[in-house]
Formats: sequence, C-alpha cells, structure tokens
Amino acid sequence: MTDEGGPRRTRLYGAVDLPDPTIDETGALPAQPGLSPGEYLEHYRIEGVLGRGGMGEVLSAKDEQIGRSVAIKRLRVANPSAHVLDRFLREVRIQSRLEHPAIVPVYGLYADVEQPFFVMKQLAGTTLAEVIERLARGDVADAKQFSRQHLLRAFVDVCLALELAHARGVIHRDIKPANVLVEGAASDPLAKRKALLMDFGVARLADDPRAPDASLVGSLPYIAPEQIQNADAIDARADVYSLGATAYELVTGRPPFVDDNALGLVLAHLNQPPADPRTFAPELPESAAKAILRALAKEPADRYATAPAFADALAR
Ligand SMILES: Nc1ncnc2c1ncn2[C@@H]1O[C@H](COP(=O)(O)OP(=O)(O)O)[C@@H](O)[C@H]1O
Ligand SMILES: [Mg+2]
Repeated sequence: MTDEGGPRRTRLYGAVDLPDPTIDETGALPAQPGLSPGEYLEHYRIEGVLGRGGMGEVLSAKDEQIGRSVAIKRLRVANPSAHVLDRFLREVRIQSRLEHPAIVPVYGLYADVEQPFFVMKQLAGTTLAEVIERLARGDVADAKQFSRQHLLRAFVDVCLALELAHARGVIHRDIKPANVLVEGAASDPLAKRKALLMDFGVARLADDPRAPDASLVGSLPYIAPEQIQNADAIDARADVYSLGATAYELVTGRPPFVDDNALGLVLAHLNQPPADPRTFAPELPESAAKAILRALAKEPADRYATAPAFADALAR
C-alpha cells in the first residue's frame, strides 16, 4: 500500500518532484503514538499499516469477535481540534450512507473512545497513484498487468460512485489517484479489476447548515479553479474537474499541470489551458482526449454537468 507521506514529504510525478499535494491542518501537530502489530483497539487486533494520507492512518486489523480482517481508519494527530474531530465524524457518516459497489462499506464507528476510529471493509489492491508510479518507472510486468485502457474502464466506476454521492448532496472535494483503489491480486485477470473511491475526509454536504468551512481543502495537482477561489461555493462540477485531472494522469502518467511551486500550480489551474493529453499519450483515442479536456474546463459550465456524463464520454 502507498504512503501518501506527511506534508513535508515529496512524491514523484513522472520525472518531476512536487511538494506533497495534500492540504491539511495536521502538519505541525504531534502524531499519535503508533500501534504495533499485536496491540488492540477494542476487540480489533492490529496487524499493520495499510496506508497513510494527509489526515488519517489506515491500519489492517483482525476483528476477533467475527474473525475477519478489516481496515481501521483513525486520525494521525494525537490531540485533534474539535474541528478536525468533527470532520472525521462527518467523514464516517457520509461514507457509511453511500452504499455503492465502488464505495468502501463501513462496518462501524467507535466515537466514544480516547482516539475515535472507524472500521471498514479491508480491500486488497493498489492505489491508482501507486499504479501510475509503477507504470512511470517503465516496469514491463506492470505495464502488462495494468493497461491504461483497462484502468480507464475501472475508473468509470469511480465516476458512477460519485453520481450517487452527488445525488445525495455530497461533494468529495479530494478526487485524486491516491484516493482510488484498484482492487485485485496481481494474478487476477484485468477484466475483473474494480476501482473504488476512498477517503471522504474532506467531503462536504452541499446544504450543510454548519458554519462555512473556508479552509482550502483538496490536493493541488487535481483541484478545480473555483475550489481554490472559494472552497465553500462549489458544486459537483468541482469533482468533475478533479476526475478529469485524475483521468489525465492515468492516461499520460502526469497530472495536467506539473510545477514544484504551489503558487505555480494554483495559477495554472486558474489560467493555463492543459496540454492535449495526446501530447504525452499519442495512442489515446481522440474521444477520450476531448472528454478529459472538457472535464478540465476552467468554467464549471463548460464541463460535463455530471460525473456519469464524463464516464460515458470516457468509455465511448
Ligand atoms: N479499506 C481499505 N482497505 C485497504 N487499504 C485502505 C483502505 N482505506 C484506505 N486504505 C489505504 O490507506 C491510504 C490512506 O487512506 P485515506 O482514506 O485516503 O486516508 P487520508 O484521509 O489520510 O488520506 C489509502 O491511500 C490506501 O492506501
Ligand atoms: Mg487520502
């Protein structure tokens, strides 16, 4: 599994090093003490770490009452602010209510414990970020195992998962390759691979009555221009943009804009038209290239209005 890294880590995008793109509020705070294999959270025996993101840590554990492996997500910070905690609880509630084959099912929440955590289905697979990285390294076995066309087809599942989220008034706000998991063991036939959307950590309910959440959330290589300008006043089309940026990286190996300077990325999203993905992926069908560019339109009104409309255009 991937380690998205802390805020000061770098990760590789094609040949270019970018600062870690995850925008979060935990950077300066002390991390929770780690749990070692064999330790317990309630009746869950910890087996190891499945992955880490900007905010959370996902552990592999065994549910000793039922006797199955699960994934446990908890915050990485030791003393989360009320705001961070509130957002964490919102994440669980949002994800739990979205029952869809491409959204990870939640089994339960432990909120009234010292360090709240929730339990979900443990998936076996690879994040899209990891797959892209491996393809960028030019591994021949990987190139056979994950053809871009197949991955694009799996990615359509993620668009359809978002259709449900959007219908329920949920905007994900952090669609990116690290938040998509491609299921399946290496030995599985490609045709059987499924993609799932993870991480509703910064998702927002469109009509949330709470005080506006003015902080900038999302990940810079994938963030929509209007989400940079006002994270609060966005709709489903901001996710369509991030889907477009993710699909762009999936087919070309690099996000639409590459800049090791955060301000440079911001300005590119706001003002610069992305290069045609066929510049980097000449074999890409014209229809898919056009679909990706349309999803990346600066003006929300010029994009696909819905995630499934983008999925249709991609799958054509
Ligand atoms: N249900 C799961 N099964 C297996 N691995 C998971 C699961 N959920 C998350 N992961 C792994 O943990 C990483 C971080 O999870 P994520 O929910 O994105 O956390 P964060 O909010 O910190 O970004 C993912 O990129 C993935 O590698
Ligand atoms: Mg994440």
